[in-house]
Amino acid sequence: MATNILVMGGDGIGPEVTAQARQVLQAAAQAAGLELKLDTAPVGGAAIDAAGQPLPPESLAKARAADAVLFGAVGGPKWDTLDFALRPEKALLKLRQELGLFANLRPAKVYPALVDASTLKPEAIAGCDIMVVRELNGDIYFGEPRGITVENGVRVGRNTMVYSEPEIERIVRVGFDVARKRRKKLCSVDKANVLETSVLWREVATRVGKEYPDVALDHLYVDNAAMQLIRAPKRFDTIVTGNLFGDILSDAAAMLTGSIGMLPSASIGGRNALYEPIHGSAPDIAGKDIANPLAAILSVAMLFKYSLDRPVLEGWIRDAVTAVVTTHRTADIMAPGMKQVGCRQMGERVLEQMAKAPPQAQAVRH
Ligand code: IPM
Ligand code: MG
Repeated sequence: MATNILVMGGDGIGPEVTAQARQVLQAAAQAAGLELKLDTAPVGGAAIDAAGQPLPPESLAKARAADAVLFGAVGGPKWDTLDFALRPEKALLKLRQELGLFANLRPAKVYPALVDASTLKPEAIAGCDIMVVRELNGDIYFGEPRGITVENGVRVGRNTMVYSEPEIERIVRVGFDVARKRRKKLCSVDKANVLETSVLWREVATRVGKEYPDVALDHLYVDNAAMQLIRAPKRFDTIVTGNLFGDILSDAAAMLTGSIGMLPSASIGGRNALYEPIHGSAPDIAGKDIANPLAAILSVAMLFKYSLDRPVLEGWIRDAVTAVVTTHRTADIMAPGMKQVGCRQMGERVLEQMAKAPPQAQAVRH
């Protein structure tokens, strides 16, 4: 049976990087004898221009029907003045919500060859390997009431931070399950010294933790977690946190690795899943063929792991990327002595490396 993948390139550098990721997807699938059915759909600003809304019903229907969505990026200055409901970002939020993708996995792994690309000292980050598990369907992102109103003659902006116990429990469980397959250390991040949502969060995390005696659980306040991420990132293995804190901490974790251009993500928890580089649309470098496609390519690796249960293909792609960055770099991770390449060339290098170092024929089918 064919696997249906929907490619949503979106805006800015999204289409460029997903084009490279798509080739890697096809190459790996072909080698494994996996039949893919690829489709595309407009999303974000591109969809606003074409159809007047960031996530047209046909695009959503295609995403629902797909086994996995390979997403590029959305947004750009052209659409920044629109209402929230009509902004490109709304498409991503709606996809996450409509597909029930409540768990966002954001690995921040420092590649040995890129240790010097970070703004932190090499000894602080060498070997750093963090997985941020971010809740994606709740919190202040979706809480009601929200809006800007006029009260007693002054304008008031309002958002609501809200988490129910089941919402906390299901994401905390993902955190424990992920930690269990890694170094069995889970750090739950909240703001329980100030916020009731966080008091409940911490209580639930502690209760669920009793079912995972093999995983060491600790709790940090989000301000302290931000500090520790910069001060001693190697203390972390898996982090589980809410939507807003996770948004912020995952960007911070990303920069430990030197370039946000290297970081993939998976949004899971629904019937299907969505994979996207976390770097965004980077409109300033769009269309110049200089963007780093490796985060999108590594998102394909995650797709093989989480949606298709093909860890060998995931490893194949990841190993190829690891090898390529020892010699070839896009502008964002360029270093002396390296060969600078553009987006398309970087994609080609990865394909070449994959061809050079294929997994055993036997393994590739499992
Ligand atoms: C992210 C982004 C999104 C978010 C935006 C684009 C809506 O920052 O995926 O981290 O805030 O979740
Ligand atoms: Mg973000």
